[in-house]
Amino acid sequence: SDSQRIHITDVSPRDGLQNQAVHLSTEAKLQLIALLAEAGVQSVEATSFVSPKAVPQMADAGELVPRIAARWPQLRTSVLVPNLKGLERAHAAGAQEIAVVLSATETMNRKNINMGLEQALDVSEQTLAAAQALGLRTRAYVAVAFDCPFEGETPLAEVLRLAARMHAAGAGEVVVADTIGSASPGMVKERFAALRGVVPVDRLAVHLHDTRGMGAANAWAALEAGVRRFDASVGGIGGCPFAPGAAGNLATEDLVLLAERSGFATGLSLDGLLSAVDFAQAQLQRPLGGRSIAWLQRQ
Ligand code: HMG
Ligand code: MG
Repeated sequence: SDSQRIHITDVSPRDGLQNQAVHLSTEAKLQLIALLAEAGVQSVEATSFVSPKAVPQMADAGELVPRIAARWPQLRTSVLVPNLKGLERAHAAGAQEIAVVLSATETMNRKNINMGLEQALDVSEQTLAAAQALGLRTRAYVAVAFDCPFEGETPLAEVLRLAARMHAAGAGEVVVADTIGSASPGMVKERFAALRGVVPVDRLAVHLHDTRGMGAANAWAALEAGVRRFDASVGGIGGCPFAPGAAGNLATEDLVLLAERSGFATGLSLDGLLSAVDFAQAQLQRPLGGRSIAWLQRQ
């Protein structure tokens, strides 16, 4: 049934590559996306239109997006934009879906996008409105929704306020993010039970990092809370360069294994994902993979 279907956005080309010592070429990014598409991935976050001084790894966004659209017209492709300038660049490149990035604390917004919280909220709302006027699909991150690396535990009331504002601003998905991977299943259960009161559950997504090895357990708690939209990154690569202590994302292969073994359909192939992990390892020149990789490779 539909309630047994989960929707995964693979964020490895964006979150996965934005903080790597090795910078992938546009060609290599396209090869990674080709492997994801072959593995059955239907939604990717491909890149970000941010300052190339802040994140040089994403400097080729304007070149990458039209090439993805030409090659995979059916692939849902989102791009992260921090402001109206990012939206303008994304639209010029032909992007069909954008994601704004609002953090739930003052300091995280300043470190990430050089704005205070109220300004970041304002800019996120303006960017969502402008994107919808252009006919684009939208996502809105609420980052540091559990803990902030600078301010400690984020008050739940603040997360609810910002999630509600992003929903009211028309965000197609409100993506609740555990930026530094510090959440626990109990926190996920509590926070999503409350979030369901302010955003319809089919508009909620969860974006988990796996710093403490809790990513899969947290994904299960989100599933139990009714969430069916997940971000994940093949091989578990990822991390925000402006959030100290942020390790990789929940690995797509871990999420798929967890979900499929529990009776949920993902549409993704574990074999296909392993090919993408192999490719990313060769490119980044270090071992990758989530918690299940050693077992998966023996199958
Ligand atoms: P700023 O320096 O305050 O910006 O940076 P500004 O408006 O003063 O402009 C400075 C320069 O940047 C100007 O150029 C602007 O034109 C340019 P100059 O005149 O010096 O040549 N500029 C831009 N260039 C390209 N694209 C743009 C853009 N905007 C201004 N969109 C800014 C503010 C937001 C630009 C900067 O801080 C930035 O780019 N930050 C990037 C942050 C980022 O990418 N973080 C990682 C992604 S978030 C994340 O990973 C978390 C997430 O995964 C969820 C989770 O896990 O929690 C999503
Ligand atoms: Mg992230």
